Amino acid sequence: MKIYILGNGAMATAMALGLRDLYEVVVVGRDKEKLAKFAKFDIKTEVYGQIYDINDKNIILAFKPYALKTMSEKLSGRANNCISVLAMTKLDELNCIDAKNRICAIPNIAAEFKASITPYFTQDDDSVAKEVLDGFGKSVAVYSDDELKSAGVIAGCAPAYLAIVAEALANGGVKEGLKKEISLNLVSGVFASFSKLLEHSHPALLKERVCSPKGTTIEGVAVLEECGVRSAFIKALSASAKK
Ligand SMILES: NC(=O)c1ccc[n+]([C@@H]2O[C@H](COP(=O)([O-])OP(=O)(O)OC[C@H]3O[C@@H](n4cnc5c(N)ncnc54)[C@H](OP(=O)(O)O)[C@@H]3O)[C@@H](O)[C@H]2O)c1
Repeated sequence: MKIYILGNGAMATAMALGLRDLYEVVVVGRDKEKLAKFAKFDIKTEVYGQIYDINDKNIILAFKPYALKTMSEKLSGRANNCISVLAMTKLDELNCIDAKNRICAIPNIAAEFKASITPYFTQDDDSVAKEVLDGFGKSVAVYSDDELKSAGVIAGCAPAYLAIVAEALANGGVKEGLKKEISLNLVSGVFASFSKLLEHSHPALLKERVCSPKGTTIEGVAVLEECGVRSAFIKALSASAKK
């Protein structure tokens, strides 16, 4: 199967790299120079003309959300599957693009390593779209635009929140005397350990298992609670969702 990714930015690149071993991927953009970087990955590229034919193609929309209307005027024919990864875009808004199946999805840049968690919403046949989204990680169906908005914040924005956590933990290690490479390496390992544990346990139970009475972990946990970390994350999620 051939997949046409319309857009050549960060998200398009991550998806192209995650899918290239499974499908024939073609990245379509408006600037030949920006498309040149895909050659070293053996990924084909095309430049939009005045009109771009999407007839019978499986396309992924990966340009900026504000460009949807102008891009739709450029596209001719009826796509097979049209998967949009445009943030803040409702399923109905995709009606400006003719397609058999329209799907709204919010992946994250871990798609590059086949590790995106990707919520999606559709009212059409999702069989091909699900296969494609699972190609660069794991997909999760949700059942309304509102649900997709909230799910998209966790999937799309939370990696940036967690980057702050990772950086802070690594800085903390340096403050305690670790070399910065060692500290960051440990933090990266902890994220891998934590992600495995989370597959098997509720976070509250996980925390209980690590905190022993009068132990070292509960000291740190008490400081995090005092600093309002829990509430800061909940507020951050709400702020991103509101936007
Ligand atoms: N980054 C993430 O983590 C993430 C997560 C979930 C969803 N998304 C969604 O993915 C999409 C792309 O985001 P990104 O992070 O990859 O952004 P990006 O790196 O800034 O890339 C933006 C892409 O949109 C194209 N574009 C911008 N204005 C355009 C216009 N007027 N007409 C046609 N193409 C236009 C750009 O083309 P040029 O290079 O030619 O300017 C580029 O290919 C967005 O809709 C975003 O909401 C991103």
